[in-house]
Amino acid sequence: MKAVCTVVVLAYIALWSFVFGDPAWAQGEKDRFVPGELWLDTDGRPIQAHGGAVLTRDGTYYWYGEDRTPGRQTGVSCYSSTDLYRWKHEGVAFPQESLSSDIRDRTFIERPKVVFNPKTGKYVMWMHLEQWGYHFARAGVAQSDRPEGPFVFVHHMRPIQYDFGYKDDDPDRQKEFGGTYRDMNLFVDGGKAYAFYASEHNATMYIVRLNDEFTSPASPIVQGQTWARILIGKYREAPAPFKFQNRYYLITSGCTGWQPNPADYAVADHILGPWESKDNPCVGPEAETTFQTQSTCVFPVAGRPGCYIFMADRWMPRRLHDSRYVWLPLVIQPDGTFTLMWLDQWDLSYFERR
Ligand code: GAL
Repeated sequence: MKAVCTVVVLAYIALWSFVFGDPAWAQGEKDRFVPGELWLDTDGRPIQAHGGAVLTRDGTYYWYGEDRTPGRQTGVSCYSSTDLYRWKHEGVAFPQESLSSDIRDRTFIERPKVVFNPKTGKYVMWMHLEQWGYHFARAGVAQSDRPEGPFVFVHHMRPIQYDFGYKDDDPDRQKEFGGTYRDMNLFVDGGKAYAFYASEHNATMYIVRLNDEFTSPASPIVQGQTWARILIGKYREAPAPFKFQNRYYLITSGCTGWQPNPADYAVADHILGPWESKDNPCVGPEAETTFQTQSTCVFPVAGRPGCYIFMADRWMPRRLHDSRYVWLPLVIQPDGTFTLMWLDQWDLSYFERR
């Protein structure tokens, strides 16, 4: 009997370690970030918020991302925190079943982001909606009165119908439905919200100003005034925009699916451009793979101008639920440049020393 129990316990530990990694390294109860290690929520469960972003609201941080719990359809989870280290699971803010019935049975959700709209008092979520083969490439929009949800689906679309000279037999059917909408982010600037997304089959990044409700593109849609094509033909994705003083910054990755590649950043004096590509901001070992990650968001550290947290995903393509989070400090230097450096662990006091 004793032997059987021992075998059962060992098998359990082995299975847990296989699925979630080595529990000895788990982060979640300590006042520090341990990039790439397992990050547990306050219930002791691995955080499921991939391809996500952090929204700050009234002193609380909300982390939204893809819930890739095995055996479930990918929904959008929400976690809350007041210190950025400990995250409470608020539940699935937007379950996949809340998509409209015309697409629900074959559509999954990637890279959800949420912003608050002070005019309507609503939290507005945009997401990349995809189907098998990655040709659906549409935006989904949902909104909620509360940050934790439940978010209610509004509609899906491709925001910009721009005739880029697409072929009639383009598998993405861009002539018919407009430019593809894949890796995305949202950014609020001066009360106006913008969607950043990889379009034209990922060749070109689009920046599109949203309407007053933040639920559709601002209309009338005028290129150069309400939207712009940037990084044209450069095949960049995973956009992570931020602003310091009057300068806009945009970290992106290359397009190699789940495999990591070098990051790049671009700068602009106006949000719709022109944007100037700079360089890979990562330095040191593994800089050429963005430390084996892909960007997802950069958010400002409250009360510390010029200080940000760079959030990235270390994707595990065969076990997406076990993909890890890499958060690193990002500090803009007096000359407007910045670098990203690997740290095995760090905490918010890092910013006091800058
Ligand atoms: C990546 C993208 C991810 C996911 C993946 C699928 O390029 O950033 O969000 O779509 O491709 O292969």
